[in-house]
Amino acid sequence: MGLEYRESDPVRLSDDRKHIIALDQTRLPGEEVFLEISKRQEMYDAIKTLAVRGAPCIGVFAGYCMAVLAGGYGISDVGELVSKLEEDAACLDSSRPTAVNLSWALKRQMAVAKEGAASGMKADELTDRLYEEAVSIHEEDIAMCMKIAENGLSLLHDGDGLLTHCNAGALATTRYGTGLGPILLGKERGYEFHVYSDETRPLLQGARLTAYELVNAGVDETVVCDNMASLLMKQGKIQAVLVGCDRIAANGDAANKIGTSGVAILAKYYGIPFYVLGPYSTIDPETATGDDIEIEERDPEEIKTMWYEKPMAPAGAKCFNPAFDVTDHSLITAIITDRGILRPPYTESLSEALQGSRA
Ligand code: MRU
Repeated sequence: MGLEYRESDPVRLSDDRKHIIALDQTRLPGEEVFLEISKRQEMYDAIKTLAVRGAPCIGVFAGYCMAVLAGGYGISDVGELVSKLEEDAACLDSSRPTAVNLSWALKRQMAVAKEGAASGMKADELTDRLYEEAVSIHEEDIAMCMKIAENGLSLLHDGDGLLTHCNAGALATTRYGTGLGPILLGKERGYEFHVYSDETRPLLQGARLTAYELVNAGVDETVVCDNMASLLMKQGKIQAVLVGCDRIAANGDAANKIGTSGVAILAKYYGIPFYVLGPYSTIDPETATGDDIEIEERDPEEIKTMWYEKPMAPAGAKCFNPAFDVTDHSLITAIITDRGILRPPYTESLSEALQGSRA
């Protein structure tokens, strides 16, 4: 195996390959707790509760899940193993609906399993192939994030004020991240950016996770409430907005954390470039437009009680808690991928990117 894990990797495989070691992101920034995950229910829960989160990271995790499950069964009949894995993939796929990387990685592993079975592999050989493929998904993600960071950095200038929403850093991917990639790479190369992180209600990925990553990296960082972006833009403090994405439809509409589309509308009003950053695996050609993207709805208690000593809304109050929204392609200045910086019209540039590399 060529991939060398780092302590800071949000997910990695144990040396004996029996479990996945995952940083529990629900405990950050206060505690760095690592989970040891080997059972399907633990995997499902880790994704559902956002212990493992961020579209690319969920994809990498799902790749390992399939390998660890296959390894744990000890089944010698290949047909039986493949049908067990099919059930596992369906279960894990139902944990969160919006980020396409989850189903993308599960489908990729199922294709490996089915090809292996069709070519006459034994169960243990097939399991080894799943481990190899999981590591490939992880390695590819690291390489893609690096390219996204390079491509994004080419659009920024030393001294820029940047706004981010949610967390699209190394915690949400593997190293560098997508939305934070150009910032972290820029820091290594001597750029001084001033980054404003939306706290990102209701689960506070901006305040808890983006600030944690940027402060650790020594980046000049200020946490703001989500409703402060307009003021910052009006005051001329923001030269570009950088966000990640969970699914990009064929026409360029992009799903990302709830609140992203509002930031994009503000950026358009103030004439500020709005960049969406993500790997090619986040592009979903089978989803025609943003209207076709399923938006996850989460427990209302995340809004009413989760961060408070006392409930902050009456028990009887109705509460709506969509986890994502869709930014219309017309608001996106460029989609920055590992396969190049894509510009409108996105129907064409995305389809070209999916066919191969693009400068
Ligand atoms: O609900 P989360 O925390 O998984 O949402 C994450 C985001 O919205 C990220 O911006 C997106 O997954 C891209 S991560 C590189």
